[in-house]
Amino acid sequence: MSHRPPTRSPSPRAAKRSRIDHLTKEDFKNGLFLAPMVRSGALPTRLFALKHGASLVWGPEIVDKAVLHSERVVDPVTGLVSYNGKQGRAIFTTHPIEKPYYIFQMGSADPDLAVQAARMVQQDVSGIDLNCGCPKPFSTHSGMGAALLTNPDLLCSILTALRAAMPPEITVTAKIRLLPSQEDTLKLVERIVNTGISALTIHCRTRNMRDRDAALVGRLREIVEFVEKMGKGIAVTENGDCTGAEDAIRVRELTGAHSVMIARAAESNPSCFSMNPLVDVEQTLTPAYLRLAKYLDNNWGLTKFCISQFKGRHVAFDKAQQKTYHQVLNAAKGFDDAALSEMVGEWTGEEEFKEIVKVIEARGPRVRAVAAEPPKCAAEVPLKDIPPAAAPILVA
Ligand SMILES: Cc1cc2nc3c(=O)[nH]c(=O)nc-3n(C[C@H](O)[C@H](O)[C@H](O)COP(=O)(O)O)c2cc1C
Repeated sequence: MSHRPPTRSPSPRAAKRSRIDHLTKEDFKNGLFLAPMVRSGALPTRLFALKHGASLVWGPEIVDKAVLHSERVVDPVTGLVSYNGKQGRAIFTTHPIEKPYYIFQMGSADPDLAVQAARMVQQDVSGIDLNCGCPKPFSTHSGMGAALLTNPDLLCSILTALRAAMPPEITVTAKIRLLPSQEDTLKLVERIVNTGISALTIHCRTRNMRDRDAALVGRLREIVEFVEKMGKGIAVTENGDCTGAEDAIRVRELTGAHSVMIARAAESNPSCFSMNPLVDVEQTLTPAYLRLAKYLDNNWGLTKFCISQFKGRHVAFDKAQQKTYHQVLNAAKGFDDAALSEMVGEWTGEEEFKEIVKVIEARGPRVRAVAAEPPKCAAEVPLKDIPPAAAPILVA
């Protein structure tokens, strides 16, 4: 929760920055993406991923109803945008600097709710992604996540509704898992692609597979070729077991995928998108992460969790230093902890942030110096005007 006086007005930074071109199907090609990760995909993680080379970043899945019960609050000093739940606690935060690269992932089992939630967040995101892969009961019991894989009518109706309701500058995408049979997977993919999505991510595991099971990347090439033959220019992104920028080259060669998405390797080290990722993350990334997290008012518990997931090769940091580092972190109850402050040094989060802004703004051709104007918005399209889902061709 922000300690600064909130405002509902657009952030000052957003207003000053030059207009940035919206995403197109092409932006989902030749990319290396940060995967959606509940908790681990917090704003500071996404900003560090962007700083170190991620082309696009997916936020953690947020359920449509949670968005609908939230209130959007802008921090007038940092520009941080928080969607706060009933207790005033942020259900997610974002910053205008990440907007051109930020895909909001939604959990939904209802086209109307999905559209309402998407309309609420569309001013802060570049795309809406539908989670069709989460196998956890909290998601599947209400028909969301991986439950959609066996309810393709509902899955496609949500995507169709989102596509119809969102303005063209907001992409609509989906992230699915493989079905046990390749034939069924291809049928599902065909229906999904026909909804008008801009890109498709395939987590190369089936619903019943655990993360420790090797991803079935060998099945992807046929799917990629199938989608290419459909001729809609849709990128297929591989997800599963990629360890970083260098490994992504191998994954693309192996699968023919247009792009690669990384989850756990990025959770361990958000700089893995670089060909020269940071080593000694405790010494390099952690202090920077803490400074940035404090500046952006990131929830302390969430910050601590994300840092506890960092793992890296040790070069200069010996065993005793590692032990002290973990003891200090475990004991700390907040950013103001004295031992933590000693470990971090100066709380120069604003400098960390400015550095990230510099790196992001130095990015290529999507940045255009044209006068800022509000995006054309389909927010007023009544729900009744949204066309029904494409006719079913797959038996669930
Ligand atoms: C901590 C954690 C949280 C996750 N949360 C989400 C999520 O919110 N939405 C989603 O589609 N997948 C989620 N996933 C799955 C990942 O996006 C990804 O599909 C999976 O971990 C396989 O990629 P990997 O082998 O690179 O880890 C999560 C994974 C992890 C480890």
